[in-house]
Amino acid sequence: MSKKLRTTLITAGRQARYTQGAVNPIIQRASSLVFETLDAKEQASKGRETGSLYYGRRGTLTHFSLQEAMTEMEEGVGCYLYPCGAAAIANTLLAFVSAGDHILVTETAYEPTQAFCNDVLTRLSVKTDYFPSQISSEIIHFIQPNTKVVFLESPGSITMEVQDIPAIVKAVRSVNPEIVIIVDNTWGAGVLVKPLTCGVDISIQAATKYIIGHSDAMLGTAVSNARCWAQLREQSYLMGQMCDADTAYLATRGIRTLLTRLKQHQESSIKIAKWLTTQPQVAQVHHPALPNHKGYQIYKRDFSGCSGLFSFVLKQKLSKSQLAHFLDHFTLFTMAYSWGGFESLILAHQPDEIANIRPITGVDFTGTLIRLHIGLEDADDLIADLAAGLQRITP
Ligand SMILES: Cc1ncc(COP(=O)(O)O)c(C=O)c1O
Repeated sequence: MSKKLRTTLITAGRQARYTQGAVNPIIQRASSLVFETLDAKEQASKGRETGSLYYGRRGTLTHFSLQEAMTEMEEGVGCYLYPCGAAAIANTLLAFVSAGDHILVTETAYEPTQAFCNDVLTRLSVKTDYFPSQISSEIIHFIQPNTKVVFLESPGSITMEVQDIPAIVKAVRSVNPEIVIIVDNTWGAGVLVKPLTCGVDISIQAATKYIIGHSDAMLGTAVSNARCWAQLREQSYLMGQMCDADTAYLATRGIRTLLTRLKQHQESSIKIAKWLTTQPQVAQVHHPALPNHKGYQIYKRDFSGCSGLFSFVLKQKLSKSQLAHFLDHFTLFTMAYSWGGFESLILAHQPDEIANIRPITGVDFTGTLIRLHIGLEDADDLIADLAAGLQRITP
């Protein structure tokens, strides 16, 4: 029987081996895992890549439960766990490149992803070229004979451009089917869009965000298809990657309520984004689910819904003191990095800061950009908080 996604998220990773008589998986904290006999040790060694208890760095029952749940959720064949999203990105890239290789990265990738490529990969003699996020089949013009990886992120970081992933995959494969295509799928939370089903090789999440969902732990996940799984798993293992059992437990618990939370993030974020479009201080709202957004048609086609992160641009570029007056007095929106938790967050970026991380196309706005994460508070209360903030902006 094929299960609906909502059911999968409730049942995945709950085999008796992991739950041992409880509803949830046990928290098995371990470095050493004990072998009763020499034969058992040899068996564990043989099965260490496929779910035998072997050594803490290969994971315990708590990790296996999460890995299975993530794999089922994102429709892959395996999931590697990392201590944070940035580690998942860095180690996934490292798993597929060697000195002399070339990779293509969307210019709207999360800034530390770009910094990793520009700094660490450059030192390892791997060249990164960026491409505009809005191209699709034109990506073939950027591919070189030594291109090994294409890295996507949709919607784009901060400015929220939606990428035509199926068209990009088709075009890349038509030039070189060996290229590994990786997506940072954090905004889609592994459920709103399924990159592996349209031919992407690896879907990464900063599970710190919606999977954990409560802003109290950090985790990275990379779900792979069959083609890339063994290489991703073994290279990540050699890099010493793993998370602790308590975090794995929290992530599995987060999966149970993921769709329910996302439904509320979606409803409130759309309501607030629409309200912002009517405000005189606002020049543009970047929300993939609004019909005038760049890439809205692709969003409608590929995504089953949206999450709570979006941005808007003010008509004015605020000075530091204006910005402080605007940001320092919110009562519900908190100023903090990250997103995906139950709480609402706010951050500001000046247009020149964004232009610095858009190496090809720059930016098409002049006002201050405000990034919001819409949490699970009442949307009308959040609107009142934002309305008071917009009132604080003086011309
Ligand atoms: C899109 C995206 N990818 C990756 C990361 C990195 O995740 P972490 O903070 O868990 O390292 C973030 C963090 O904000 C992010 O927004």
